Amino acid sequence: MKEFYRDSWVEIKLAHIDYNIKQLTKRLRKETNIYAVVKANGYGHGDIEVARTAIDAGAKRLAVALLDEAIKLREAGIHVPILVMGRVRPADVPVAVKYEITLTCYQKEWLEEVRQLELEKPVTVHLKWDTGMGRIGIRSTTELLDNLKLLKHKAFYLEGIFTHFATADEENLGHFESQLVHFQRLREVFEKNWQEKVLFHTGNSAASMRFPDKMFDFVRFGISMYGLYPSPTVKLEQPIDLKPALSLQSRLIHVKKVEPGTTISYGATYTAQTEEWIGTVPLGYADGIRRGLQGSEVLVNGKRCEIVGRICMDQFMLRLTEQAKVGDLVTVIGKQDQEEIEMDELAEKLETINYEIACMISSRVPRIYVD
Ligand SMILES: Cc1ncc(COP(=O)(O)O)c(C=O)c1O
Repeated sequence: MKEFYRDSWVEIKLAHIDYNIKQLTKRLRKETNIYAVVKANGYGHGDIEVARTAIDAGAKRLAVALLDEAIKLREAGIHVPILVMGRVRPADVPVAVKYEITLTCYQKEWLEEVRQLELEKPVTVHLKWDTGMGRIGIRSTTELLDNLKLLKHKAFYLEGIFTHFATADEENLGHFESQLVHFQRLREVFEKNWQEKVLFHTGNSAASMRFPDKMFDFVRFGISMYGLYPSPTVKLEQPIDLKPALSLQSRLIHVKKVEPGTTISYGATYTAQTEEWIGTVPLGYADGIRRGLQGSEVLVNGKRCEIVGRICMDQFMLRLTEQAKVGDLVTVIGKQDQEEIEMDELAEKLETINYEIACMISSRVPRIYVD
């Protein structure tokens, strides 16, 4: 591991990722396999480390958003099939072929351009169907047939078909059901027009946790592999017990007692009402601790303490519940004694989702891995 010289770090428990994958696998049908989704540096957890753990836990394949992310995994010596779920420019397809990376296709024009390239071997592709997400993918049977016609060209090997659900994590499943119907309609047309076997995959975490019997050859397991529930609805249902893998830790770098009336940080937005103990923590918005977290809590010596005053680029201040020492552990995300700050709590404060909290911890914070 690279040396680091600061008092803040992200700790990743790889054993929890292993546990989460095994929990999920238990609920899946025997014939359903797992894509471990490790895009965005493994949702901030570290793509290479998570990928290796996921493969050891039984995931057969990896999925990312970008070609660059796939190449990074290959260069780390990971040999399982890797799917890029986003669009790769036609001009970059030869690079994907060289690294044996599977690409996503869904545009006639893309297939026409790639067909013109001199590829050393066919590019393996998965055809994306937009059954109701409204992002990328073919939508109609006309588009499907147009794409299939071009996919017969020797430049392509159509290995898989996939779609993505927009609302599988919600209480109201009307839209999810309509996506299933749309998928089935396209599938009937596909099967009449394509003889070779392909792999089908539809489910993200929410769909595969809640409806394992509606899944096909693979599921794409992202957020829940990291031990986080896709939404409050799924968390409440608790179809699977999950253990969060990530905690964010720091240490107090300064402690002082202030007089009533003392103001703290930029803009002097916080004024001590009584004599107070104020601690300083070496994390700031350059580390992903957004300024909107002013007023939320972290743990020191097992107690919740409020973040007071504006969060700076590299530091923020706390109102301690009692005197503490320089060097005392500060837990921004994770457990201390009986208390826990979950990513969901920070997400609620920032009016966002736990996915964004995991991704927002910047690369300036070192990641350390424990079993
Ligand atoms: C196409 C696709 N599949 C699967 C996933 C994984 O979703 P989740 O993290 O909810 O499991 C994502 C993530 O956004 C995605 O974009």
